[in-house]
Amino acid sequence: MGPLTSIYVFTCAFLFILWNNIQPTVENEITANYSGHLLTEVPKNIPVHTHILDLSHNRISELSALEFISLPDLQVLNLSHNLITELDFRVFTFNQDLEYLDLSHNNIWKAYCQMLARLRHLDLSFNKFTVLPICQEFGIMFHLEYLGLSAMMIRRSDFRYVTHLQLNTVFLTLEDFSLYEPLSLTALNTRSLHIVFAANQNFNFSLLYDGMRTSESLKIVNLRYNSSHRDFPFPSLDLLKKTKVTELMLDTVDLEWTVILEIFLLAWYSPVEHFTVRNLIFRGRVVKLTEYKLVSLSSSLEQLISSGVSMKALTLEHVRNKMYYFNQEILYRQFSEMNIDSLTIHDACMPHMLCPKRASLFRYLNFSRNALTDELFQNCDTLADLKLLILRRNKFQSLSKVSFMTRHMKSLKYLDMSNNLLRNGGAKERCHWTDSLAELDLSSNQLTESVFECLPVNISRLDLQNNQIASVPKGIAELNSLKELNLASNRLADLPGCRAFVGLQILNIERNLILTPSADFFESCPSVKELQAGQNPFKCSCELQDFLHLERQSGGKLSGWPEAYVCQYPEDLSGTQLKDFHLTELACNTTLLLVTALLLTLVLVAVVAFLCIYLDVPWYVRMLWQWTQTKRRAWHDSPEERESGLQFHAFISYSERDSLWVKNELIPNLEKGEGCIRLCQHERNFIPGKSIVENIINCIEKSYRSIFVLSPNFVQSEWCHYELYFAHHKLFSENSNSLILILLEPIPSYVIPARYHKLKALMAKRTYLEWPKERSKHALFWANLRAAISIKLPTSFETNEEQSDVASTSSITQHLIK
Ligand SMILES: *[C@@H]1O[C@H](CO)[C@@H](O)[C@H](O)[C@H]1NC(C)=O
Repeated sequence: MGPLTSIYVFTCAFLFILWNNIQPTVENEITANYSGHLLTEVPKNIPVHTHILDLSHNRISELSALEFISLPDLQVLNLSHNLITELDFRVFTFNQDLEYLDLSHNNIWKAYCQMLARLRHLDLSFNKFTVLPICQEFGIMFHLEYLGLSAMMIRRSDFRYVTHLQLNTVFLTLEDFSLYEPLSLTALNTRSLHIVFAANQNFNFSLLYDGMRTSESLKIVNLRYNSSHRDFPFPSLDLLKKTKVTELMLDTVDLEWTVILEIFLLAWYSPVEHFTVRNLIFRGRVVKLTEYKLVSLSSSLEQLISSGVSMKALTLEHVRNKMYYFNQEILYRQFSEMNIDSLTIHDACMPHMLCPKRASLFRYLNFSRNALTDELFQNCDTLADLKLLILRRNKFQSLSKVSFMTRHMKSLKYLDMSNNLLRNGGAKERCHWTDSLAELDLSSNQLTESVFECLPVNISRLDLQNNQIASVPKGIAELNSLKELNLASNRLADLPGCRAFVGLQILNIERNLILTPSADFFESCPSVKELQAGQNPFKCSCELQDFLHLERQSGGKLSGWPEAYVCQYPEDLSGTQLKDFHLTELACNTTLLLVTALLLTLVLVAVVAFLCIYLDVPWYVRMLWQWTQTKRRAWHDSPEERESGLQFHAFISYSERDSLWVKNELIPNLEKGEGCIRLCQHERNFIPGKSIVENIINCIEKSYRSIFVLSPNFVQSEWCHYELYFAHHKLFSENSNSLILILLEPIPSYVIPARYHKLKALMAKRTYLEWPKERSKHALFWANLRAAISIKLPTSFETNEEQSDVASTSSITQHLIK
């Protein structure tokens, strides 16, 4: 075997060992939850490697080994709230990893034992056991920490198998309880003992006295005692010396006042440090402690008092009294004189509390949910050690009086006045807070903006949410220590500046009436690290753009962004998140908008002016309109005329001032001879009754060509230009070369008005016939012209000629001279 092979074998072995070590931790915990599935038996298809199996709240009545044999990895099994009557621990023989087994709230009355070595938590509480189901096997379950049991009787020998186990919690439920052999509980070795007694039975006080000797922490539920006070089993003096309990909690207590007092004294002179009573109802008559004949404790009381009191905290929650005669003064005096660290009286309908007569040790007082008023602790200077005072949900009304209440509380750091009826009476009212106050909760009151004139100077956290504050006034005293300000759920219309709170770090201004928050906030508040401004009715308009810029610049200081920031107005944007709301720069900048609009208007005006002045567009438009009208009318009036087509060789357009030349030279020369050219001349061929424009158009339409006699006179005449326009229009619409220009006299270009650019263009582009001055050239000119015109017209025009001739003389020509 070479060295390579040995390395290979070694590596394989190493990996195998590694894999086996890793595997159990790699596996995930598998949970199977069948809770509340109306199951009557344990399901068959539970995954094999299930670690945690919840079968609680079903109707399972029987268990068998077959059901759990296939679940070797089971660690937690919850069978609480089922209908199991008999329990055989042997069904879990193959579940040796089982650590948590909850069988509470069943009907189990009988158990067959078997050792479950790893079990740490076993709950058999709320079952139907007559005697405690503690078998010998429990004694070797050394991991056991929690043991829940139920029974109808407890005897001294019942705990003998578990006496040596150091348990954490023992939970006993005692329904239909009939027998308790005194000192039975003391056999237990547990840190915490929790007893739920029957709700409808007289409590057995031996359980309390023995419980106090058994564990450090004792909780008992359901202490009722309806029999006469005389029958009450008072504690023995012996007990006080052996008490272990430091934490005592009694829940659902309904007793006579004298009995309660007895228990209080017992707790008072025992090592109990934290004493809590919840859901307390007391009956009977209140007596002063000094009047009270201490039935059992009297003899050694002096001695006990001198040894000092261990009590640190007394808590009373949900207290109701059912006494006919009730002198509250006595009660308040007794509470106020207590030399303890912390006192809580919560939800006790307490209307008043007295100022301690001597310097008090109270550091924490919680009188929440009572009926206390402004008179509390006025002029009270014995609470100098008090650090926390909680007075939420009472009936305080005057903020000024509250401030005076704190005046002598030199150590007060925290004051909770939330959920009262506090108002502030405006500027007239003076305020005097203790300088030590650093945190103040004034939420859910009826305070308005004048609250800022009545605040402790050294305040660092201030809660003013859910009040009626509409603004933060300008000229208020500076609160330089203020770091956290909560103004949520008020009526503010804008973010407050930080003029008065230079050190502000956290501001909450959610749920106010802010439509458009001002954007200079972070400039005015340089120390702010967090701004909560969501859930305001934001108006998504241009002003909000600035705030959106602020969000971008703030670098994540806006808390709750973007979900909490939603447009409410305008209606069509309602529900849109601010982050999705965008408007262009143009839409928001009024100056920019105005300038743009102005520029656009100017350009438009310039274009229109250019079109009007330079290109004479309105004139063309007018002409085009008339031409179209004429065409339309001609179509309707005389369809046969339209069909007749061309009747003339040429239409002559000339200025009236050149008419001499036209009549004497042009017409005779063209119409003579065998070619017989027919000309449409407006004086001869115009039809009366039609408008000039119509006549011109008709003439042009019926002519094959249009001859224009150009001269400076021509360009002076608007009508001529008119004719030229129509002829040119026809030229383009029929795409024929129908224009003939005769230049009678040279036209200097400056003579042509600017708007006759078409004429200019024509003259520039076309070759025109120039009327020669020399007579010798005239013959050639006429021949040339004749050639340009010569075309064979359709024969049908003979008949039409008569009509044209009838209309030849007309007075309209006079109008043409312009
Ligand atoms: C078992 O289920 C009940 C009811 O759902 C629950 O209250 C209890 O804590 C569970 N027990 C364990 C050990 O998880």
